[in-house]
This record gives sequence, C-alpha cells and structure tokens, in this order.
Amino acid sequence: MSAAAGTAAEIAAENPLAAGLERLPLAPTALVIFGATGDLARRKLLPALYNLAHDGALPERFHLIGVARREKAHEHYRAECEEAIRAFSRRAPDPEVLSAFLKTAHYVPGTFDDKHVYSRLAELLGRYDEQAGEPLARAYYLSTAPSFFPVIVEALGAEGLAEQSEAPVRLVIEKPFGTSLAEARELNRRVLAVFSEEQVFRIDHYLGKETVQNMLAFRFANGMFEPLWNRNYIDYVQITAAEDIGIGSRAGYYDHAGALRDLIQNHILQLLCHVAMEPPVIFNAEQVRNEKVKVLRAIQVPTPEEVADISARGQYGAGHVGGEDVPGYREEEGVPEGSRTETFAALRLEVDNWRWAGVPFYLRAGKRLARKLTEIAVALKPVPHLAFSQEGSLGVRPNQLVMTVQPNEGVSLQLGAKIPGTRMSIRPVNMEFNYGTSFLSQSPEAYERLIGDILLGDPTLFTRDDEVEAQWAICDPVLSAWQQSQRAPSAYEAGSQGPADAERILLPGHSWRAI
Ligand code: BG6
Repeated sequence: MSAAAGTAAEIAAENPLAAGLERLPLAPTALVIFGATGDLARRKLLPALYNLAHDGALPERFHLIGVARREKAHEHYRAECEEAIRAFSRRAPDPEVLSAFLKTAHYVPGTFDDKHVYSRLAELLGRYDEQAGEPLARAYYLSTAPSFFPVIVEALGAEGLAEQSEAPVRLVIEKPFGTSLAEARELNRRVLAVFSEEQVFRIDHYLGKETVQNMLAFRFANGMFEPLWNRNYIDYVQITAAEDIGIGSRAGYYDHAGALRDLIQNHILQLLCHVAMEPPVIFNAEQVRNEKVKVLRAIQVPTPEEVADISARGQYGAGHVGGEDVPGYREEEGVPEGSRTETFAALRLEVDNWRWAGVPFYLRAGKRLARKLTEIAVALKPVPHLAFSQEGSLGVRPNQLVMTVQPNEGVSLQLGAKIPGTRMSIRPVNMEFNYGTSFLSQSPEAYERLIGDILLGDPTLFTRDDEVEAQWAICDPVLSAWQQSQRAPSAYEAGSQGPADAERILLPGHSWRAI
C-alpha cells in the first residue's frame, strides 16, 4: 500500500509529541468482513481501514474481502466502499491512497449459512497465498447480526479455514457478545470449539479510545495519584456515558437490549476496570486482562432484593434536544407500543477488595440526555478539618479528578483556591490537561487502533472469554429483577439530566454531576 505518512522517525522529527504513532511491522494479511455492507462496516470499519492506509499502517500486502448477502460485482462493492469512506472518514481521502486501497477490495456474495460462500472464500484466500508465495495472515471480522456469529464460526471451521500452519488466523467478534451470561457462555463454547482463545478478538470499541488507554498511563506513569487511589482517600467514583442522540433506526436491536446491555455491561464496566484495577506486572494482554477480571470478580453481585436499592432506570419521553423537538422513545419508529425497555440505567456497585471496600461506584448511561459526555469522576474525601472562618470555608469542596473520554478529551482536577482579595474566601478552580492542545494531533478513531492491533495480533485491548462472562454475571441479576418488577422505567424528558429517580441510589452526601 502506498502511504501518505512518513516513517516513525520522520513523524517524531516533525512532531516529537506524535512519537506514539510509531508503526510496527505487519505481516501480509487478508481481512474478511462478514456483513460488509452493514452500518458498522460503512460508518466505522471502512473509514478506519482507509485511515490506516493513509498513515501507512496497513501491511504492504493487504487484501480486503467483503462478504454479504446481495449479488454484486467487485467494482460495485468498491464503489460502495468509496462512498462510505468519503462520507465517514475523519479526514478527506487522498485520491492516490484511496484508489490504491480500493484496489485491495473484493466481494463474495452469499448468505452466511451457505457452504459455497466458504468454498469461494477458501479459493480466493488460496489464490492470494499463491500470488504472495507465502500464506497470508487471515482475519475474519464478524460484523453481522449476533445470531450469525456461531453459524459463521462453525462454517469457517468446517471449510478448514480456522487454522493454517505457517501464518496466524484471527477471529474478530463485534458486540453484543450474548444478551445474558448463559448466552455468552454458550457463544464462548461454540467459538472456542473451533478457534483457540488466542485467536479470538472480542471488540469493545471503548478500549480503542485514546483517553481510555490514557487512564492507565495516568494512573501508572504518575507517582502522584496512586498513593491516594484507595478507600482511605476516595469517597466515590462516578462513571457517566451520556448521549444526546436517540435510538435512530436501531429499534429492532435496542428494544431488546436497553441501556444496561447496550452500554453498561461492556463499555462502562471496562471503564470501571481501568479505574479500579491493580497495576499489572507487565503491560501485556495476559496480565492486563488478569487484573481486569480480578476487579470484575470482586464486584458484589446484587441479590434480587438489593437490585431495587442499587439501580434506577428510565425511558425518555418527548422533549427538546440540540434546538429541536424530538419524539419520546415509544414514538420512535419500530418501538412496540407500551415498551418497557430502559433508555437510561444507573447502578451503584461496590468492588469488594482490599483497595476499594466501602467505596461506591456509581455508573449511569442513557440516550437523549442533555449532551454527549463520557467521563469518570473520582471524588476525594472531604478535608478532615476546616481552619478558615465560617464564611471562608463555604466554598471548600472535596477535590474531584475528572477524566473526560469525550467530547473534550482530557483530565481536570478540581482544587480549592483563595479568591484574590483581603478576605480568606475559597472557591473551586480547575487544573486542566487537554489532549488536543497538549499533543497537537487528532486522535485516531477507536476502530483504527483496534484494527491495527488485530493486524499485529495484540489482544490486550480486546475482551477475554472469562472477562465477558464476568461482566454478564454482574448484569444478569439486575436485568432479571427488572424484568420481574411490576414497575415500569421512570419517564424523563428528552434533553434532560435523566430521571429524578436516579438520585435514590446515591448515598448521603453524594450527588450526580451535571451532564
Ligand atoms: C455502541 C452502542 O456500542 O456505543 C450505541 O451500541 C452507542 O448505542 C455507542 O451509541 C456509543 O459509542 P461512542 O463511541 O459514540 O461513545
């Protein structure tokens, strides 16, 4: 592939702050996308692949094979890829890079349960190996409806495509990985009957976000915070993933999922793991994931009686977002009348281990809230004694450390400072680190990082089998208690802070941060 960017040394010389963009050598690869014409492929995967090509981060020898149901010619598929890249790439495509990239694309039509699809695939992959004079690494990306995951995996196995002796074969599985613990276990069982765990890359795209990875750098590359990072100094942790968008055209998926399955079971629990995990001995896939699993297993799974106290859920009604009137959830296209699916969920969990026992972790996620905001706020305990006069002490607030994942990526520390003047009056001020201004470069999209890691074969930022099951083990009891409950989710107005009922799960003295 031709590359628009220079070598790592050139990048670093031009902008030393971009030295992290160093590229590692990549084996020649054939990437097969199942569900090649779906929404995810168009909006995220193809633009990410184009941007990797733009950065010179695809292997020299690279082939893209799209598999989807409809008959179409390679040329037609390439035109669709081009259209998707032009519409969704984070930068305007460079004509030369784009045309070289599109030449790598081929199309295989067919339904995922049709054996012929896999024999054609085998033939095409074999041809690429022959042309290269060596077996290419293979990656199968399952970007389909989840019901096809086991079907495709088993068909790949039956066609002998799940392994080869001289080059790696990898399987990439999109979310949702099951809709309950039982389903996740069954899916793991069927996948691992064909592929080994080392071959499997389960996607949680939040792990590809720069700022999520920066949480680990922030904790483990700075001596300053770690001594405070425990139950002695931290009062509570609050993780928010708020969106202003509604469910769009995804009612078919969303009405069966709801906010807990859609965002808390995966993305938010991963953020929690990053806040709470112990420093890994080495930063590698095994160690990092071991530490995360320990955190998940330390979370007390609520009993059915406890669920009512530690959880709240809501559903948006009509309201006003971004200057527009928007319909309520039940009026959205495709949502069944009287649906009780939650579009907002909040939980209070405890990580019951030596470091965190007694510290509440508040988690919340929702659609059609006031704005898009993903952040982790760590609230420190109040100072033990206020030495200032009563008036002077009024503005003293416990310190809060806020890591913002999006939209304004960065870290801010809320401190108490004296207001200039003769009196000792104090008010909170912010000390801020802003990603954009400090590094003068645009962060790559999460999918760029993740696809890059798949090509490299590094599974650190992917969810392991035991990890995904531990995440479901936490959510299952909440979901079943909600299902059995007579209460419908509390209504909240679109564009608001969410249901007032979320206040109920806070312990005395704690409050939700404004969205
Ligand atoms: C997806 C959810 O996993 O994450 C969507 O299915 C949600 O409902 C999306 O909108 C949010 O991702 P991001 O990167 O925009 O925060």
